[in-house]
Amino acid sequence: MATTVQDLAEKAGDERITMLTAYDAPTAEIVDEAGVDVILVGDSMGNAVLGYDSTLPVTVEETQSRTAAVARATDEAMVVADMPFLSYGVDESEAIENCGRMLKEAEANAVKLESGPHTVELTERLVELGIPVMAHLGLTPQRFNQLGGYFRQGTDEESASEMLELAKAHEEAGAFSLVLEHVPSNVAAQITDAIDIPTIGIGAGPDTDGQVLVLNDVFGLSDRSPYFSDQFGDVKAEMERAVEGYREAVESGEFPASEHSYEEAEIDEIY
Ligand code: KIV
Repeated sequence: MATTVQDLAEKAGDERITMLTAYDAPTAEIVDEAGVDVILVGDSMGNAVLGYDSTLPVTVEETQSRTAAVARATDEAMVVADMPFLSYGVDESEAIENCGRMLKEAEANAVKLESGPHTVELTERLVELGIPVMAHLGLTPQRFNQLGGYFRQGTDEESASEMLELAKAHEEAGAFSLVLEHVPSNVAAQITDAIDIPTIGIGAGPDTDGQVLVLNDVFGLSDRSPYFSDQFGDVKAEMERAVEGYREAVESGEFPASEHSYEEAEIDEIY
């Protein structure tokens, strides 16, 4: 049985919750085998693997396909499908259908919604239907056009209090956890204290119940990454080394060698 909503609730406060993104089977397997609690099939796939400039073009079909690949490769971690821009919040039944597809067809364990006043009722309805919801406040990148960029949020008392009220509203609506992105660490700490569901921070300081990062940043595959992220390996250099090695070996005739080839002794001349 994969990590459950209840497991995360029990862990919070005692041990730190770990979450990473993944968008395909081989990397999901690595993340799962490393013992990470939650794999988020983030809409960051737009930039990280699909070649878009933002998360906005990501579709329900892309999310479903990537989520299914991740779920097939994951045994232990909870798999959370990050609902793409406008796949929720426009029409309730369409949102329920889109979220439902992630559990019914892609075998996700939960969905994440970039949250706001417009997602409180939807969260309640989804939870009522048996779809666990991870909420997301602070910087919600699907709103970058409205926010004027990817800026820190909750930087004055009024906006920080609004965030706290929304966090409480989503807890009350039944969300099982809350991502806090790019908010001052003292705001994240106070929200974490004020609610009972686990908070998972990214750019939110050390006092949330858990942490999440984008896998490409962790791997060292991103050309640019935010200051609050960190690189824990240099996978890009290793991939470059492998590809260069292959090209050189083919060009020099070193590859394929005799152990990579098979000669059929029964065949003489065919022309
Ligand atoms: O899409 C994503 O990767 C996210 C995380 C940064 C929380 O939403």
